[in-house]
Amino acid sequence: MNPSAPSSALRSSSAWQALEAHRHELMGSHLRQLFAEDPQRFQRFSAEAAGILLDYSKNRITARTIELLLALAEQRSVLALAQAMACGERINNTENRAVLHLALRNRANTPIAVDGRDVMPEVNAVLGRMAEFVAAVHEGRWRGHGGQSITDVVNIGIGGSDLGPRMVCEALTPYARPGLNLHFLSNVDGGYQRDILRRLDPARTLFIVASKTFTTSETLTNARTARAWLLAALGEEAAVARHFVAVTTNVAAAAQFGLPEANLFPFWDWVGGRYSLWSAIGLPIALALGMERFEELLAGAHAMDRHFLEAEPARNLPLLLGLLGVWYGDFLGAASHAVVPYDQYLRLLPAYLQQLDMESNGKRVTRDGQAVDYATGPILWGTTGTDGQHAYFQLLHQGTQLVPVDFIAAARPHHELTEHHRLLLANCLAQSEALMRGKSAAEVEAELHAQGLTGEALAALLPHRVFPGNRPSNTLLVEQLTPATLGALIALYEHKVFVQAAVWGINAYDQWGVELGKQLARTIAEELAGEAPVQGHDASTAGLIARCRRLWPALSMAKG
Ligand code: F6P
Repeated sequence: MNPSAPSSALRSSSAWQALEAHRHELMGSHLRQLFAEDPQRFQRFSAEAAGILLDYSKNRITARTIELLLALAEQRSVLALAQAMACGERINNTENRAVLHLALRNRANTPIAVDGRDVMPEVNAVLGRMAEFVAAVHEGRWRGHGGQSITDVVNIGIGGSDLGPRMVCEALTPYARPGLNLHFLSNVDGGYQRDILRRLDPARTLFIVASKTFTTSETLTNARTARAWLLAALGEEAAVARHFVAVTTNVAAAAQFGLPEANLFPFWDWVGGRYSLWSAIGLPIALALGMERFEELLAGAHAMDRHFLEAEPARNLPLLLGLLGVWYGDFLGAASHAVVPYDQYLRLLPAYLQQLDMESNGKRVTRDGQAVDYATGPILWGTTGTDGQHAYFQLLHQGTQLVPVDFIAAARPHHELTEHHRLLLANCLAQSEALMRGKSAAEVEAELHAQGLTGEALAALLPHRVFPGNRPSNTLLVEQLTPATLGALIALYEHKVFVQAAVWGINAYDQWGVELGKQLARTIAEELAGEAPVQGHDASTAGLIARCRRLWPALSMAKG
């Protein structure tokens, strides 16, 4: 990013320039003061859709800020581009692909065409096959090779083929069907696989090999080891077809793995990996919760899609969230964004959103290849509250970095421990209030006085006890975390990412940045198994390869 004179069309645009000027106007104001001046601030800066209330009043904004941000969105044709996406245009220009995760949850079943061909019949056919398969497993009609019913399902996948279903299965634990245990195997770390397999009975275990490309080395290595483990226990090659299914766009490669076509659940190149939980990649969700719950998840996302495509800009949740992110990243210097769910079952949401946001918008050139001169995607991070409060919230309150926070909470829990939930909610609301209000020097002084402190002792402590406040946050509140509200929440973040990419003029749907490391890893894996001195690396990498070989000579026997 180059903070100097604008060279890009975006930074030179009238909307951007107006926001620059507005930033200076707002510089002196504090959120405390903005709340004091406007008793309607909550009503003014909150909006609701698909069961989600977005309170964005605790942001460093005025009505003018929103007006200017909406003008920027208008100038960047954000909502027009969203229509283009929804109509199946090939907006993923570097891969020449449509971007149609919306079709996967298009519960209205209206035709959506890619190159003139309606994709909905295929989408519905796969959903139908998923429903049949899930019912067969649940009813004990799908049995293992030895005739036993399935008790454990292991999803083998990584990135988008892991994080989505893993996060949703955990988030919706209260809806889990009894009798089927779900496991997720992503990392190629052998210890991780060994620990999972050790707990399983091969005769009752079903593996789902989930890989959009069916070329990802971690997934294929894990799948091969699982296959060998199964065959060692069950003896016959025919067992593979009863214990392995695959979800992929590369049906030929999955067939080569030894799976009959009936065991393959396809999806399409117009589904990005990190947008794929709505496809058959969601099979673990349907198995864990039942197909009806999976369809409720789709319906919630669809409701958010309709909202995004139809709601007026000033009430449009994804548009507002995306624009607020642009405001902080590009005008107020925030380099990161925290997501803090006050729900232990949403533990994996930050990790899921990390891939969604950072793999989508971690880009440094525009769609037509020009280097950007503004900040694009932020570092997204977070953990659950209240745990985070006892770890990194100190920095949020008194550190030198500006970190906007999304607080996420459900008003109604899935349990009867009301006292716990009251405390959980109270903490969530208290944190956003504390970040916003802070504690002034005068307030601290009065407090210390009341405790009997005066003079030098008071003066020495005072600066440490002051909270500057004016720290922004959104609060996303749902009545209860149901499959539908979770679907809507995920779709909200997907569209937020879309909005930002559209403003920045970048392609959110490719991920070339992960390729280089993959290529190098292939070469280095070969070299770790060899003995000859390595060539073509820098001294650091070559030195480390040599040291690893020396420390564990068995590496040379591990050639796959
Ligand atoms: O990390 C890169 C990536 O391509 C992600 O985009 C994707 O979700 C993940 O790898 C897994 O890919 P696949 O589903 O093809 O195995």
